[in-house]
Amino acid sequence: MSPVHIVALGGSLLRPEEAGARSMWMGQLRQLMVHLEGNGRKIGLVVGGGLPAREGIELVNEIIADPHRLDQVGIAATRLNATVLQQLLLDIGCDVAPSVPHTVEEARSLLDDHSIVVMGGTVPGHTTDTVAVKLAAVVHARHCVIATNVSHVFTKDPRHHDDAEALTELTLAELASIVGVGESLEPGASAVVDPVAVETAIEAGLDLAVLDGRDVSRIDDALDGKPFEGTLIKA
Ligand code: UTP
Repeated sequence: MSPVHIVALGGSLLRPEEAGARSMWMGQLRQLMVHLEGNGRKIGLVVGGGLPAREGIELVNEIIADPHRLDQVGIAATRLNATVLQQLLLDIGCDVAPSVPHTVEEARSLLDDHSIVVMGGTVPGHTTDTVAVKLAAVVHARHCVIATNVSHVFTKDPRHHDDAEALTELTLAELASIVGVGESLEPGASAVVDPVAVETAIEAGLDLAVLDGRDVSRIDDALDGKPFEGTLIKA
């Protein structure tokens, strides 16, 4: 198989609340996919649930106690967002798998026949970061790019600490000491990288690149193996 790139796209990047920025971002993402496909690359996009996930979970989280049921609501939202991007890429003639796979094994097999596969979540207990890291491991990707809405991994949560420092390079063990390792987040809760994804990356010995996906050129640079604006996390 040709080199495979795996990108986790945070659902917040679809930004339904900002029409102008959203259509520009979608246009740039389309251009990047056309460019990568033209260069014979295979791409797996794993899309987060963003606003629909938050809204769906909020509708019932006072009523439903079982976190796995709330996770199923979140998964449905990730699949909605994946369908949005899948159709956006099919619409410009990209060779995108016609179905949104439910497992990373199904995604791997669709990548045998198509240049691009777009998927969302799979099972309860983790976020799409973990799905992307698992997919990167099964397709033997060089690394997994986590495109989110913050510029870097910080020493502490910058929303609550003015003295938080942006990190450009660290190890998975250091990332684990910042965000935790292995423990599921609550349904709909967010962290710069899901602790279950950190554990999965450690098990797979996989490098991660965390960057602000609102700037599509940063995704391009990281996939190209160029220096990129963001945080490189070494296995
Ligand atoms: P996301 O993957 O969107 O969470 O999953 P996130 O990374 O925090 O958010 P964004 O989109 O990048 O901003 C949303 C929710 O869906 C459920 C979880 O409840 C998660 O919090 N989910 C998702 C699963 O249970 N399993 C999955 O494989 C994916």
